[in-house]
Amino acid sequence: MAPHAEQLTRSAAVRLRGLTRSFDGRTVLDGIDLDIPAGQFVALLGHSGSGKSTLLRAVAGLDHEVTGEGELTAPDRVSVVFQDSRLLPWRRVLDNVLLGLDGREAERKGREALAEVGLEGRERAWPNELSGGEAQRAALARSLVREPELLLADEPFGALDALTRIKMHTLLRVLWEAHRPSVLLVTHDVDEAIVLADRVLVLDHGRIGLDLTVERPHPRSYRDPLLGEYRERLLTALGVTSDVA
Ligand SMILES: Nc1ncnc2c1ncn2[C@@H]1O[C@H](COP(=O)(O)OP(=O)(O)OP(=O)(O)O)[C@@H](O)[C@H]1O
Ligand SMILES: [Mg+2]
Repeated sequence: MAPHAEQLTRSAAVRLRGLTRSFDGRTVLDGIDLDIPAGQFVALLGHSGSGKSTLLRAVAGLDHEVTGEGELTAPDRVSVVFQDSRLLPWRRVLDNVLLGLDGREAERKGREALAEVGLEGRERAWPNELSGGEAQRAALARSLVREPELLLADEPFGALDALTRIKMHTLLRVLWEAHRPSVLLVTHDVDEAIVLADRVLVLDHGRIGLDLTVERPHPRSYRDPLLGEYRERLLTALGVTSDVA
């Protein structure tokens, strides 16, 4: 079968047909079909080991061994944010944001992106002088400055404390409102998914087991009782009962 690099075509929307990935004969993604229209905010839930990161890597064009009879279409400008910020410790914050970009215009955009994530004045700080939340904000600025059409995020807030995580949710949504990239956000956190995303997918046995549109206006409150119905459906799809024995 053709390797992924040859299959990947470019368009503003994401379109997957028959995406399959196996490791040592074990199928992790089993013929996934998925469309993400330009500008849609999608969250991806699933058990540990269900293949979320594998799917994200394939869409990012980072996996050259993905197979499938169908197609894999993704935008040209894709940024990826991971659970750890992946800032280079030997470069100051602004230099990390600008990595690979040169010139005064890039620097202006870099400073602007840092201001957008609330890190104005920290341009010359070293990564080890930042808190976990600040480092993730710098990682978001590094993505923003590349003006992505598609932002892929793999548990970007998973290592943060609960309060910082809630602040980051607000920030991510504000950034999305301002720039409108398509987003595919991988998370373990059902509440994070329903508060942030307009559509939530559950990956199960290599397929999209549930595809749920969340029809509540933004900004959403964690206390909105109507979000409870979505939570129940997602937890059921994940095989979790709300009772603790
Ligand atoms: N490079 C690899 N070689 C062998 N197996 C792999 C490789 N990458 C992933 N896998 C396997 O594929 C499965 C899916 O992994 P993946 O990292 O996509 O899961 P995940 O849903 O992101 O899990 P988590 O929520 O724990 O991050 C796992 O069983 C994992 O062991
Ligand atoms: Mg993962």
